Amino acid sequence: MSAPDGARVMCLCHGVTWADIRTAVDGGAETFEEVRRQTGCGKSCAMCVERIRGEVDALLGQSGRQGG
Ligand code: FES
Repeated sequence: MSAPDGARVMCLCHGVTWADIRTAVDGGAETFEEVRRQTGCGKSCAMCVERIRGEVDALLGQSGRQGG
C-alpha cells in the first residue's frame, strides 16, 4: 500500500487534508482529539472521524508514539 497523497481531503466538511493531519501529529498531537482541535476536522457530519482516527494511529505507530 502506498502512503496517502498529502493533498487528499480527509474531512470534506472542513477541507482538512491528509497533510494537515500529518502536520498536527508531527507537531505533537498524540490523539485524534488533539488533531481535531488543531485542524478542525470531524466537527460537523463526523463521517470522517473513524478514517482520520485510523490515520492518526498509523502515524503515531510509525513514529513510535502511542496511539489513543
Ligand atoms: S467530513 Fe469531516 S466533519 Fe464532515
